[in-house]
Amino acid sequence: MCIVISFEDVRRYYVVGENVIKALDGISFDIISGSFLAIMGPSGSGKSTLMNLIGCLDTPTSGVIRIDGETLGDMGEDELALIRNRKIGFVFQNFNLLPKLSALDNVMVPLLYRGIPLKERKEKAEALLEKVGLGDRMKHRPTELSGGQKQRVAIARALSNNPSIILADEPTGALDSKTGDQIMELFENLNDEGRTIVFVTHDRTLGARCRSSISIRDGRIVDGC
Ligand SMILES: Nc1ncnc2c1ncn2[C@@H]1O[C@H](COP(=O)(O)OP(=O)(O)O)[C@@H](O)[C@H]1O
Ligand SMILES: [Mg+2]
Repeated sequence: MCIVISFEDVRRYYVVGENVIKALDGISFDIISGSFLAIMGPSGSGKSTLMNLIGCLDTPTSGVIRIDGETLGDMGEDELALIRNRKIGFVFQNFNLLPKLSALDNVMVPLLYRGIPLKERKEKAEALLEKVGLGDRMKHRPTELSGGQKQRVAIARALSNNPSIILADEPTGALDSKTGDQIMELFENLNDEGRTIVFVTHDRTLGARCRSSISIRDGRIVDGC
């Protein structure tokens, strides 16, 4: 078993005026390759802060974070960008799609950043949209799609660089429970392919479907792993 993500006494404090907000206050855990881990906890408990740190979108105030055994704090911006773009796919609650672009173009964007030629970009993006069940909606813009369909586009986009880790921050939070269930199934399929999934949710039923879970409260782990 191989540890893909490791946190060692990680803290993330925000200074706002004279106050210090301890969003994460000494978090340690390991995530094994191929896990499907739920992160649960009330609003404001530090879940998104944690995800942003794993996703190299933010840096900790103190502590050590390792991805595939490599310490993020030792890396320069270019190395961090490589991890962010090649190893990790991010899915957000509010989809974060580019509103003026079609589903196909949204999925093609990360491939463009990687310098993949147009024909290959298009073929890859089409295959990914087929994979998430949206083969018949490629030309639609986000405003012409339902919430569940938008989230499928966002998942296809997250898969475009074939990441081994997928971070999903309340991906079903804006969806009704039936649609949320279908999106959960998609993540389960991605986990069956061997990808490590970290899945933030408020929903206990969905949380129970994950193979392991961590509960956090006020920036500390109170249960799990
Ligand atoms: N950029 C920021 N500046 C100051 N405080 C923040 C910032 N981001 C989050 N926080 C605070 O940190 C705590 C944890 O936030 P967050 O990680 O977003 O929680 P969750 O995702 O569990 O709802 C909250 O108290 C929040 O108000
Ligand atoms: Mg959050």
